[in-house]
Amino acid sequence: MKRIGILTSGGDSPGMNAAIRAVVRCGIAEGMEVYGIRRGYEGLLDGDAIKMERSNVGDILHRGGTVLKTARSRRFMEPEGPQMALESMAQLRLNGLVVVGGNGSLQGALKLAEAGASIMFLPGTIDNDLAYTDFTIGFDTAVNTVLDAISKIRDTSSAHERVTIVEVMGRNCGDIALYAGMGGGAEVVLTPEHKPRPSHIYNKVLMGLNRGKLHSIIINAEGSGFPSADLEVEIEKYTGKETRTVVLSYLQRGGSPTANDRMLATLCGARSVKLLKEGSLSRAIGTRGGQIVDLDIFEAAAAEKKIDEDLYELVEVLSL
Ligand code: F6P
Repeated sequence: MKRIGILTSGGDSPGMNAAIRAVVRCGIAEGMEVYGIRRGYEGLLDGDAIKMERSNVGDILHRGGTVLKTARSRRFMEPEGPQMALESMAQLRLNGLVVVGGNGSLQGALKLAEAGASIMFLPGTIDNDLAYTDFTIGFDTAVNTVLDAISKIRDTSSAHERVTIVEVMGRNCGDIALYAGMGGGAEVVLTPEHKPRPSHIYNKVLMGLNRGKLHSIIINAEGSGFPSADLEVEIEKYTGKETRTVVLSYLQRGGSPTANDRMLATLCGARSVKLLKEGSLSRAIGTRGGQIVDLDIFEAAAAEKKIDEDLYELVEVLSL
């Protein structure tokens, strides 16, 4: 019988619970013992694991957060961290591990795979910053949360004829900003990958005002390099329009996962169990062109994210 573990690591994302549920229930259906490891790699180092039964994952499908808790483990990132984690896996007699997390967690999974562990990686992050998969678990929910906020902001922004800067998450990846900007009809989107000249931002606001727009929405990803407080002052100065900032912050990480995130999490979780059952080497699971795919974990980690300049262009065209 196989004994497998599952952990969630890094920033939580809506849908992580759906992934845990799928791994636990599919694993048990395949005759495996499934252990839930608490607080990510930190808990793995401590051997903090509990045997999961079907009932342990009841009533969690629709909940944000992660019932296994999560952490960003400094100890695991130390040079001796992965070897210690491997020893802990051996003590727990785990012959496979499912890791759900973002970019940092993938780097950790890679180290464990290099050291000889059998790892299945599931993309769980709101950031959508993993190049090997079209979408990550939690991204769709986060974008919908931002869209919901933009709709409300539009009401008050029009009433006061203001400019509103909506600051969204994305330290290194601008996908939340880009998709929310597209879906929410923003004037300008600022991201780590796309930094227009400041004069372009002001001109865009002025063009909208000149054609009778009541408000403007600027989406600013936290890692764009434009501090929202400075931008607010500059926009007011150059356009003469009152400008306000809304920082959505951790609101974007919570909430009930959308149908897309539940499906992605469930299908990726089910695939990870199938691969472990087949005795497959370490793989990263994700989605490409609407299909669930699995790739060699090293190939997945080496993939580079491409910036779709056409999408940024389209946001600008649509808001003229
Ligand atoms: O989960 C990814 C992310 O949401 C980033 O976009 C953000 O910068 C970061 O996590 C902040 O997370 P924390 O404050 O929990 O480290």
